[in-house]
Formats: sequence, C-alpha cells, structure tokens
Amino acid sequence: MVWLPVPSMDDWEGRHRPPRASRRVLFGAAAVGAVTALFAERIPRWLGMRLTPTANSLPAGTVRALGPTAQVPVGGGKVFRAAKVVVTQPAAGTFKAFNAACTHAGCLVDTVQDGKIGCPCHPGVFRIEDGTVVSGPPPRPLTPVTVTIQGNQMYLRT
Ligand code: FES
Repeated sequence: MVWLPVPSMDDWEGRHRPPRASRRVLFGAAAVGAVTALFAERIPRWLGMRLTPTANSLPAGTVRALGPTAQVPVGGGKVFRAAKVVVTQPAAGTFKAFNAACTHAGCLVDTVQDGKIGCPCHPGVFRIEDGTVVSGPPPRPLTPVTVTIQGNQMYLRT
C-alpha cells in the first residue's frame, strides 16, 4: 500500500486561489479593450467580413428609429409622416422603403391600400413592391431609401 500525503486546507486554497492580476496585466487588458472599442466597427471589414449594419454600428445622427416592424402589414405598408418615409412589406419579411414625397409635386403620400401607395393631391398611385407608378400624373417612381431592420425594429438611415 502506498500512502500519499493529504494536502491541508491551506495548501489546497493556496494552489487553487485564482492568480492575482498584476498592474501590468490590468493595464494591458485595459489597452486592448480600448483599442478594440475604438476599432470594433472596422475590424470585421479588415477581416473581410460583411455584417448587416445595425443601428449601433452606424454613426450617430444618421439613424432614425421608426419603431417595430409589426406596424407594417404584409401586403401593405405604413407612412411615417414625420420621417417622410413610407415602409412597405410586399411579402412576409421583405421590407421596402421610399421617400414619401410624391414625384409629381412633392405632396406626401398618405395611404397604403390594396398593395398601392396613394398620393392625396392629384391623385398619384404607386406600387408597394418597387414604388413604380400605377396611375396618375407622377412622372417617376418613389425614391427608394434605406431602412435597416434590427431584430424587430426599423431604422431609417438619413
Ligand atoms: S403631388 Fe402626388 S400626384 Fe401630384
């Protein structure tokens, strides 16, 4: 039979106590964290990765929150008058967004019904799929704008 020495509680705690970080290690970790935070947005690009832009990854002042995607029905849309944008969802999960200014005389479109966006002024009608003109005097389609979906929230890039 072989007898092995049994460590005392002091020995056990001494060996299993987490190592204490030196100041050098702490400063190094802080420096790495600061550099990572500074360049976090660029690192994926440097590595050749493509990421979907999010509200947090876009520069401040260029994003306007529009609210939850649930406001935009499938096969329909919603006009956000304050943001001057109309967001549509022609098919489930496919969102399109257009400048709400009509290309005829600049009135804001105000309705989205039966797959069409309506302008109240003359009255021009546009398709929700691509903003092209269905009828009326508008000479051109509505101008597309970029709306980013993050989670279930919509953000307008201005
Ligand atoms: S301004 Fe929209 S149809 Fe004239």
